[in-house]
Amino acid sequence: MLKVVRVVGATLNTMDIDKMIAHYTELLGLRLVERADNGNAYISLGLDHHNLVLSPSSVSGLKTMSYEINTDYSLKEVAEYFKINGIWADLKTDAEHGIPELVEISDPDNNRIHLFPESKRIGIGYKDKGIVPQKLGHITTNVKNAKKTVGFYEKYLGFKVSDWMADFFCFMRCSSDHHNMNFMQNQSSKKMNHIAFELKDVGHIVASTDYLAKNGKPLIWGPVRHGIGHNIATYHYDAEENVVELFAEMDVMNEEMGYFEPRPYHEDFPQRPKVWNNVPQAASQWGIMPPEELTK
Ligand SMILES: [Fe+2]
Repeated sequence: MLKVVRVVGATLNTMDIDKMIAHYTELLGLRLVERADNGNAYISLGLDHHNLVLSPSSVSGLKTMSYEINTDYSLKEVAEYFKINGIWADLKTDAEHGIPELVEISDPDNNRIHLFPESKRIGIGYKDKGIVPQKLGHITTNVKNAKKTVGFYEKYLGFKVSDWMADFFCFMRCSSDHHNMNFMQNQSSKKMNHIAFELKDVGHIVASTDYLAKNGKPLIWGPVRHGIGHNIATYHYDAEENVVELFAEMDVMNEEMGYFEPRPYHEDFPQRPKVWNNVPQAASQWGIMPPEELTK
């Protein structure tokens, strides 16, 4: 029926929008594209009309996620398909600026997802000040039942499983990147575990860490080389304690071969999708372990 081809972005509920805009534009180096009449701030990495929407609210945290889909069907038919399968769905117009029509659905954890065939690409261009990531890499959500959520994303959205950590943390892809969506089963009251942006290389990670430190944003985890996905990553809080990951060197899946492009730091040769034991090396090859906030 349809396949998600890209995790385009997210809308974050925001209590102090000016501080959040400053974090994502001045520190992260994204572009503020426009402010809507309802106060929403539309923020772009460079290609799309927007990748982040900051939405004024009395609470902080994930509001919606946005996925680009491949489908031969109309969005009206897509909405019907979800409804027939007992999934809440609604065809919406002008729900996001730059996206005239989209289907909003609800996943098993009641996270709202916007689906659309192609977003308006205004090609605003990348900024030359701040960290300036290359793209939005992935979103990790905290879920009640990881197996159920993973089944939903496989069956209805076309995601593939890259790796599991034991039976509680699944890494899924909709592209050649090792992961684009992750689901961690835990007790957290936060919907979003973290949002991740890809930097160009390890030098960029080092420079970004210096820049964050200089601007009063110390890391809360990292630098690490993850076992699962093998990306080098750092984690920090944005202005409202949403966790932001910056990463480089993530594993690349070669679908024809059925394994990840070989790297010297892999555990297996070849490295194929698998279930990892819940051991420290799965989270961090270098031995620096995550704070409780990211795991409970
Ligand atoms: Fe991540």
